[in-house]
Amino acid sequence: EEMMGMEGMDMENGHASHTNPVALNNSTGENEIALPPLLEPDKENGIVYDITAQKGKTEIYKGVQTETYGYNGSFLGPVIRINKGDTVKFRTNNNLTEATTFHWHGLDVPGVGDGGPHQLLQPGETKEVEFTVNQQASTLWFHPHPEGATAEQVYKGLAGLIYVEDNNSKNLGLPDDYGTNDFPLVFQDRQFNEDKQFDYKAVRNQDGTIGDTMLVNGTLDPKLTVGKEKVRLRLLNGSNARNYTFKLNTGDSFKQIATDGGFLNKPTEISEITLTPGERAEIIVDFSNLDASSDIALINEDDTILLPFKIDEQKTNSIKIQETLNNYVVTEEEKNLPVTKELELFGMGKMVYINDKQFDMNRIDFTQKQGETEIWEIYNKPDMMGGMTHPFHIHGTQFKIVSIDGKEPPVSLQGWKDTVAIESGQTIKLAVKFNNKGIYMFHCHVLEHEENGMMGQVEVL
Ligand code: C2O
Ligand code: CU
Repeated sequence: EEMMGMEGMDMENGHASHTNPVALNNSTGENEIALPPLLEPDKENGIVYDITAQKGKTEIYKGVQTETYGYNGSFLGPVIRINKGDTVKFRTNNNLTEATTFHWHGLDVPGVGDGGPHQLLQPGETKEVEFTVNQQASTLWFHPHPEGATAEQVYKGLAGLIYVEDNNSKNLGLPDDYGTNDFPLVFQDRQFNEDKQFDYKAVRNQDGTIGDTMLVNGTLDPKLTVGKEKVRLRLLNGSNARNYTFKLNTGDSFKQIATDGGFLNKPTEISEITLTPGERAEIIVDFSNLDASSDIALINEDDTILLPFKIDEQKTNSIKIQETLNNYVVTEEEKNLPVTKELELFGMGKMVYINDKQFDMNRIDFTQKQGETEIWEIYNKPDMMGGMTHPFHIHGTQFKIVSIDGKEPPVSLQGWKDTVAIESGQTIKLAVKFNNKGIYMFHCHVLEHEENGMMGQVEVL
């Protein structure tokens, strides 16, 4: 009792997100959800995607212009669809009035093009990143990463999606008709001020900024119209700090088909899935036995309505989800490798540390050989308040979770990951391999923790 009260009111010291005390409002389902545009590449000289960070005004509330940031638009970003084996170029432009970077979260890309804090673009600057897509089908994302301004820039709207496709994803026969039976869903909670603006500095919380208002793909009070059919939802927790446990209000189960970096081996029936900031999952929800009068919605753990569905009975499909989607495996060899990197996450608020240190751009914390698998053991050390979950992210790679507290991870986590929730007191072992060289960040994806120094650097040689 006493602890609850303490944590709930301890906003000033920044412990609010220990209990997520700012409740989310239910979506009234008033507005059809926005669908991010698919970004078409320029194909005259190879495959080139132009991506511009810019300022804009967005009508989030009816009749009100909110000042926002976006990629190639006023708010959020497009979906960049790339194919395994293709050599592609991202031409990035900074049209903001402040420096930014373009970080490709989950993408296997050389360190110089990763868009971490070292790769700053000043206002007006353009940079090109060229690479060959060398990873399997997955739903990744991109966002800024300038030191000290990541959290605010993401909060204002800088976030977009990357879809990697490959022969497997094209041949599985999964729902893949963009905006018809295959939808991206970017979940972000925000706190608007009285003028319906984002005043990040006023609401910044050292343990992670949370808000009472849910935006999905930037839409307030969203609903999603779907067919009377199987629908694929690509969920991204794009929030600065809030965790979500997604369920259906009907209690029905659904099928998870993918983790951050690829398909699960088999579609896995689950009735809820938790995503911490930065994590993704793909799920298939079957609406075929429902009709236009059905009351169905994605809800959060505490039953907050996140996204009501409306069913259009005219639209149907008879897609059968294959039983085998992938061939992911943690090998015996990987299970038996010794731990070669130990990390301890500790602290809260401004006092957050990895191995007792805070981020320093001029310090390389670890080195690792290109192409070599190492076992990283990460321990989330509890503090006096009990501690909190840290979503741990490594740039430039997809890793495998070998164990959680010595046990095999749940089926939902038996797939490629780039961000993993580590609960207070837990120890997680990861098998980590980098295919490219360069300097990569690893950090807590609560963006305020990252900014407060819960980040380090590994140099791949
Ligand atoms: Cu999603 Cu270091 O980032
Ligand atoms: Cu954290």
